[in-house]
Amino acid sequence: MDERIYALREDAKKAGEPVLRDKSFLLLLEKVREKKPVRILEIGVNRGLSGIAMLLESQKSLLTGIEIDEDKIKIAKENYKTFGVESRAKIFQGDASEIIPVLTGEYDFIFLDGPKGHYYEYLPNLLSVLSVGGILFADNVLFRGYVNDKVKTPRRFNTTKHSMEKFIAEITNSDSLKTEIIDIEDGISITEKLK
Ligand SMILES: C[S@@+](CC[C@H](N)C(=O)[O-])C[C@H]1O[C@@H](n2cnc3c(N)ncnc32)[C@H](O)[C@@H]1O
Repeated sequence: MDERIYALREDAKKAGEPVLRDKSFLLLLEKVREKKPVRILEIGVNRGLSGIAMLLESQKSLLTGIEIDEDKIKIAKENYKTFGVESRAKIFQGDASEIIPVLTGEYDFIFLDGPKGHYYEYLPNLLSVLSVGGILFADNVLFRGYVNDKVKTPRRFNTTKHSMEKFIAEITNSDSLKTEIIDIEDGISITEKLK
């Protein structure tokens, strides 16, 4: 992986940006390397660093991102140019709750890394644009250990915790999905759409 990505990830962490944690980042890239998806969807782009890393890992992939924050989009687009991936990456600006339901086409790999309280709401529409055999890779699914009560949940996070538990129940109990929950960092789920 290009060393500059690591440097930019460190800059983003220092600036307090919510950056995908290191082991989760490496796992994401491993899955993209294995899958070599044609079309990748990323919910929550931030500075574009995971998106760039995925595109560098899989040279023929195309990336569509969704990001609400215009300033972050400006930075992400600059970063795409710096790494020469701008022709393979586009970003829809706006709220993922509004954009996901109107997405068209199929994606072979979806990286879900947006607002945690909305994963359950996004799920049906994400599954409908995920190709059979495609992968849904989601970060933060164990939500600080609150999910499944490994850590006591402060009252203000109860709604998000319950929503995340419903998300996990749905992806683990469906006959048409195969899901692995990986207890590293903030928790990763990797779901394959079987049919
Ligand atoms: C964890 S960061 C994404 C990090 C990025 N995936 C990476 O690994 O480099 C989450 C991003 O989701 C964006 N976001 C938050 N709420 C959103 C919403 N409702 N719709 C779209 N994006 C949203 C935030 O602005 C933030 O940039």
